[in-house]
Amino acid sequence: MSLKITFLGHSGFLFEGGGARVVVDPFLTGNPAAKHKPSDLKCQYVAITHGHADHVGDAADIAKANDATLIANYEICDHLARKGVKKTDPGNIGGAIQTSFGSIAFTPAFHSSSYEGTYMGMPGGLVLKFPEATVYHLGDTSLFSDLKLMGELYKPDIAIIPVGDRFTMNPTHGATAAQWIRPKVAIPCHYATFPMLTSDISAFQPQGVETRVIKPGECWEYA
Ligand code: NI
Ligand code: MN
Repeated sequence: MSLKITFLGHSGFLFEGGGARVVVDPFLTGNPAAKHKPSDLKCQYVAITHGHADHVGDAADIAKANDATLIANYEICDHLARKGVKKTDPGNIGGAIQTSFGSIAFTPAFHSSSYEGTYMGMPGGLVLKFPEATVYHLGDTSLFSDLKLMGELYKPDIAIIPVGDRFTMNPTHGATAAQWIRPKVAIPCHYATFPMLTSDISAFQPQGVETRVIKPGECWEYA
């Protein structure tokens, strides 16, 4: 059994595992790197790391079109429920939610979170536990030492790490994050989407962790 991972560009991913399709941070409309349209995505779950527009993206429309369950913190769930998302399953940092494929846990991130002028709760990361693999999507964050604790607590097989600098870690800090989390595979994200983000991630070379660069629109299977 393998976990199929499609990079939607920026911080967006589609995971297919445990008999489910899960979309995380689907920012497609207005994303120059995106190869998918919102209507291309079929899923049972949409999960969001934090409230910024480059992460909430098309989440509400995708959730509505698929009658999918939206998983995010309470503030984001509440905000998108007001926009017509019918099924929401809120959580918050430190907790986890059981899902059809396994679970999603909420982890801390050092960042900010607001949407359309409204406070969207604490920013976070997500740990998606599939039967095939455990994935830790860090969301947007700086390097912080509790990433070591996240590695210890969740033992992810795959870590998805923002490395575009300016709003998150740079590639050098991202490599340190990977070494602290100690996944089997590290996948960089949140770079090159816009000119404000670095596109040179050659310094993202964590020691002892395999690096897997997925191009926007492409997929890779973790077996
Ligand atoms: Ni952000
Ligand atoms: Mn962002």
